[in-house]
Amino acid sequence: MCGIVGAIADRDVVPVLIEGLKRLEYRGYDSAGIAVLDGEQVRRVRRTGRVAEMESAAQSEGFRARLGIGHTRWATHGGVTEANAHPHVSFGELAVVHNGIIENHDEQREVLRAKGYAFESQTDTEVIAHLIHFHQSQGADLLAAVQKAVQELVGAYAIAVVSKREPGRLIAARMGCPLLVGLGEGENFIASDVSAILQATRQVIFLEEGDTAEITRESVRVFNAAGAAVERDVHMSDVSLASLELGPYRHFMQKEIHEQPRAIADTIEAVMDANAFNPLLFGADAENVLRDVEGVQILACGTSYYAGLTARYWIEAISGLPCSVEIASEYRYRKAVANPKHLIVTISQSGETLDTMEALKYAKSLGHDRTLSICNVPESAIPRASRLVYYTRAGAEIGVASTKAFTTQLVALFTLAATLAKLHGRLDVEQEGQYLDALRFLPGSVQHALNLEPQVTAWAERFAPKQHALFLGRGVHYPIALEGALKLKEISYIHAEAYPAGELKHGPLALVDAAMPVVVIAPNDALLEKVKSNMQEVRARGGELFVFTDEDSQFGPSEGVHVIRAPRHVGVLSPVVHAIPVQMLAYHAALARGTDVDKPRNLAKSVTVE
Ligand code: F6R
Repeated sequence: MCGIVGAIADRDVVPVLIEGLKRLEYRGYDSAGIAVLDGEQVRRVRRTGRVAEMESAAQSEGFRARLGIGHTRWATHGGVTEANAHPHVSFGELAVVHNGIIENHDEQREVLRAKGYAFESQTDTEVIAHLIHFHQSQGADLLAAVQKAVQELVGAYAIAVVSKREPGRLIAARMGCPLLVGLGEGENFIASDVSAILQATRQVIFLEEGDTAEITRESVRVFNAAGAAVERDVHMSDVSLASLELGPYRHFMQKEIHEQPRAIADTIEAVMDANAFNPLLFGADAENVLRDVEGVQILACGTSYYAGLTARYWIEAISGLPCSVEIASEYRYRKAVANPKHLIVTISQSGETLDTMEALKYAKSLGHDRTLSICNVPESAIPRASRLVYYTRAGAEIGVASTKAFTTQLVALFTLAATLAKLHGRLDVEQEGQYLDALRFLPGSVQHALNLEPQVTAWAERFAPKQHALFLGRGVHYPIALEGALKLKEISYIHAEAYPAGELKHGPLALVDAAMPVVVIAPNDALLEKVKSNMQEVRARGGELFVFTDEDSQFGPSEGVHVIRAPRHVGVLSPVVHAIPVQMLAYHAALARGTDVDKPRNLAKSVTVE
C-alpha cells in the first residue's frame, strides 16, 4: 500500500523517480507526487489519478533535480484529493513521503497546532512533516530531527525526507512498513520495493524495524532504533527486469495466469528430481521443528487464506494432523488458546501484509515458536520473522488480483502436507512416489487447463452483463469456488458468492432463478455424485449452470447446463488445475466489462495497513 522512491545523484533524478513510481503503482494508484530540491527550493508536483498524469505535469513545469522523493498513494486518512497526495511539506522547507498509518496523529496534530503549525490536508503524514520541522527549528539537524520525530509516532511507517536546509542528504526511516536502500556508483536510492530502482542498481540494504538511514551521493549510514550506527548486510537482488515488463501480454494478470506452469515448476524445482520429500526444503532446522508438531494453525488473508483452506484438506487427510485455518485479522484480535506444539503457518504473497504479520507476532506472544512462512518475496518482513520459510518462486506478481502466487502457494502447502506425513510416519514409500509424480505432472496439467481459454472466454461474454453469480464446490474444491468468486468480484465488480454445494439448500438456493449464473467446480472426485444432486437443485429452480469438470467425470452439457472439461482428473492436486479456469473466467469477464484489470478500483497490492 503506497509506494515510496527516492534518489540522490549527480544527474537528473526526476526520470528515476517517475520510472520508479510507475513500477510501484500497483501498490496504490489514487494519486502520485514528487518533491525535489531545486537549488534553494523544495518543488513539488502532485496529481490525483495515475503516475502518467503527474509525469506530464512535472514535464510541463520543467522539473529537474539531483535529489528527490516520490510517492504513489492508496488513500487511508483523507479522500483522494491533490491536497491529500504526498509529498507533504512543512513551511515549504522540507518534504516527506510516507507509507503506513500513524495512530496518534490526532494528538500530535493538536500539539503542533498549539505550536503554530497549520494543516492543509486530512492526512496523518502532514503531522510527520511538521514534527520534523519542529525539531529542526529547535536546532536538530535533519537526521536527528527525524530520529526525534519518529520516537513520538505511534503506528507504522516508512518515510523519506528531504530538506532545503540540508541539500546533500536524504533521510529515511521505517517501522512496520518495508523500505530498502539501493546502492549505486556515486548515487544512492531508497524504495518500498526493489522493482522501483532496478533500472539503477541491484545492490540493496533492507532496513530493519526502527532503523533510520542517512543517504548521501557517496555514503549510506544506518542507525538502529536506539540511534546507534549499525552495519546491515548488502544483498544482490535477483528480481529480473523482464518479470516486471508486460511483454506480449495485454495485462499483468493475463501474463501471470499464463506463467503458472513455469512458476509451479520453479517452486517445486527441488522436488522435481528428488525421490523423497525432504524437510530441508523448509529450512535447516525444519526436521526438528516439524517432527513433533501436534497440529497446524494457518493464518493468512484473502487469496492466501483460501490457499490455507485448501491445505487443511491435504494436511488432515495426508498427515493426520489437525489443522485449522483462520483469517489473520480475526485471529490477532481474539483470545486464542495457544498450543505451542502446533505449527503456525503464515501464507503471504507479499510477505508484508500487516494483518498477517501482526497475527504472527500475536501467535509468538502466546508462546508459539514453531513458525513457518510461505511467501513469494525474499527478505520480506513475514519470512524474516519466522523460524522456517518456504519461498514460492512465482516471480514478481504485479496484477493486484493474485493468480500465480495462489497456485504456487498451493504446491508449497501440498509439499508441507506430504513432508509432515513423512516425518510423522504416515507416508509409505509407494504413496510418497505417487505424490512426487503428481507434482511433476502438475505443470503440464496446468498448461492443459490454460488451453481451455477460448471456451472460458465464450462463457465470460455471457457473464459480463450479469450483476450476481454463485460459485459452488465441495470438499477440497470448495476453496477454489471461494477463490473464483473473489477473483470475479474484485476485477469485474460482479457480485459473487461461494458456498459448499451441500449448503445451498440451507439458504442461498433462495437466490437462484434464471438470471443467476451458478459456476460449479465438479471434478471427478469422491463427491461428484453429491455435487450432481446439488446441481439438480439449481436446475429445478431455473438456474443456469456453468460446470468446470474433467474428462473422467463423463459429465456432458444439457439444457441450461454448460460444461468445460479439463483433460483428465489429476487426483489429489486437482484444486490447482481447477484454479486456472476460474481465474480466466474473471479475467475475461472483466475485459468484456472494460474494467481496469490490473488496478481494480479501491484496491492495492500489499495491504500494509489495517
Ligand atoms: C486477491 C488478493 C488478496 C491477497 C491478500 C493477502 O486477489 O490478492 O486477497 O491475497 O491481500 O495478500 P498477501 O498474500 O500478500 O498477504
